[in-house]
Amino acid sequence: MTLADIFPSLLSGTPPRLDSAIWPRETHYDEEGRITVGGVALADIADQYGTPTYVLDENEVRDRCRAYRKYFPEAETIYAGKALLTRAVAEWVAEEGLSIDVCSAGELAVALSAWVDPRRVVLHGNGKPFGELETAIGSGVGRIVLDSLSEITLVSALATTPQRVLLRVTPDIDVHGHPAVRTGVADQKFGFPIGSHMLDEAVERIVRQPNLEFAGLHCHIGSQISDTFPYGEAVRRMIAAMARIRDEHGVTLTDLDLGGGHAVAYRSGDAEMNLPELADIIEDSLDAACARHGFPRPRIALEPGRAIVARAGVTLYRVLTVKHIDDGQTYVTVDGGMCDNPRVALYGARYDAVVANRHPTGPHMTATIAGRYCEAGDILARDVRLPVDLRPGEVLAVPCTGAYHHSLASSYNGVGRPPIVAVREGHTRELVRRETLEDLMRRDVGR
Ligand code: LLP
Repeated sequence: MTLADIFPSLLSGTPPRLDSAIWPRETHYDEEGRITVGGVALADIADQYGTPTYVLDENEVRDRCRAYRKYFPEAETIYAGKALLTRAVAEWVAEEGLSIDVCSAGELAVALSAWVDPRRVVLHGNGKPFGELETAIGSGVGRIVLDSLSEITLVSALATTPQRVLLRVTPDIDVHGHPAVRTGVADQKFGFPIGSHMLDEAVERIVRQPNLEFAGLHCHIGSQISDTFPYGEAVRRMIAAMARIRDEHGVTLTDLDLGGGHAVAYRSGDAEMNLPELADIIEDSLDAACARHGFPRPRIALEPGRAIVARAGVTLYRVLTVKHIDDGQTYVTVDGGMCDNPRVALYGARYDAVVANRHPTGPHMTATIAGRYCEAGDILARDVRLPVDLRPGEVLAVPCTGAYHHSLASSYNGVGRPPIVAVREGHTRELVRRETLEDLMRRDVGR
C-alpha cells in the first residue's frame, strides 16, 4: 500500500509522470518546470513556431532504426514511409541503413529528392495508377510489390530491364484489430489469398514474363500488433507457400517480406511490440519451417512505420477555452483537433496530454480535450488529468504523435496543416512549414 492509497487526495497534487514508453527518451522537466524534448522547451517551440505544431525528435527516430538493425542484423528493415515521410526523415532512416517503402509517386518523389538510392525503394499499393508505375519503373525502384493480375501484365510491359518484384499474399491470419487495419485476412482488397487459384495464376503469369525477376513473397498482417505469435504463424504459412511455388512452378524464391504492424504504446500501460521476442519467434519459425519443407532460408525483410516514428513525435496545442458543463464534462478546447490527428475519429485511438509550459503541482481535474473543428466528434482525448487552474493560452503536449498524424492530416474547415519542427541536442529545425491561407487559396483557381 502506498501513501496515495491511504490519502487519495495526495494524488491530486501529483504532477504527471513522463513515461519513457510514450515520450521520446530525451524528455525532461527543466529548472522552470517546463517540458523539454531533445533539449528544447516545448513552450519555446510553441512561441517560436506557433501552434499546433508537430515536434519530432531526430535522435529518437535514429535510435528506433538502430534498434531494428541491432535485433534483426540479417534482415532488411524497410521504413514504411506512409507513417511519416519528409526529406529529412527519408535522409535519417537511409543514413541509419534502412530501405524505404513508398505507396505513391508522391512518396517516391520525397524519397528520391532526399537522395535515397532507388534500388532501396519498395513500391506498394493495391491500385497503382499507370503513370505512377511508369515513374517508379523509370526511376529504377528496387522492388515492386504486385497486387493484382492486371498489374503483372502492366509492369512487365513497362519494364525495359528485368524488374524485381514481390507478390503480395494474404496469409489468412486475423489479428482482430480495427477493421480498417486488418490486412492479413483473405477477403479484402490487398493481395492474393494464400492457397487460392488466383495466387497460382499470378505466379504462373510472373514466371512467364521475362521482364520480371520474381524475388519473393510479401505479407502484411495488420497494424498495432503487440503479440509475436501471428508473425511466427505468418512465417510458417509463407514458407509453406514458397515451397509449394517451388514444387509446382519450379522457382525457388529468395525473399520473404513480413510487412510491418509492430505496436507502440500510445498511453502508459499500453502493450507494445517486444523486438527481441519478435526476432526470436521469426528465427525459430523460419528454422522450423525451412527444415520441414527442405526450403533454403530466404532473406527476411520487415516494414515498420509506426514503430520507427510514433514515439519521436509530440504535438503542441494552445488551450483556447475551458468549459465546465453542469453535471457534464469539462471541455478543454485547443487550437487543433481532428485535422492534425484524425486517428481518434477514424480508429477510436486514445491519447494522453499534459501541460508543457509549467510543472503543475496543485489539484487536478479530469477533462475532455476537444478540437476546434466544427464537428461534435472532434475530440482529441478523454479522461485526461489536467490542472484545475488550466488557462487559455497554456500549451498542451500530446505524446506519441509521430506516425500517421502529419501524413493523415487535412485542411478541413479551411485550416492549414501544422508544421513539423525537428529537435536535436538543444536545437530546432523546421522540416515542413505551416500550410498558410495563401497555400490554401492558391489551389482555388475557379474565379
Ligand atoms: N507495410 C505495408 C504494406 C503497410 O500497408 C503498412 C501500413 C506498413 C508496412 C506499416 O505498418 P506500421 O508498422 O506502421 O503499422 N493509419 C493507420 C495505419 C494504417 C497502416 C497502413 N499500412 C493508423 O493510424 O493506425
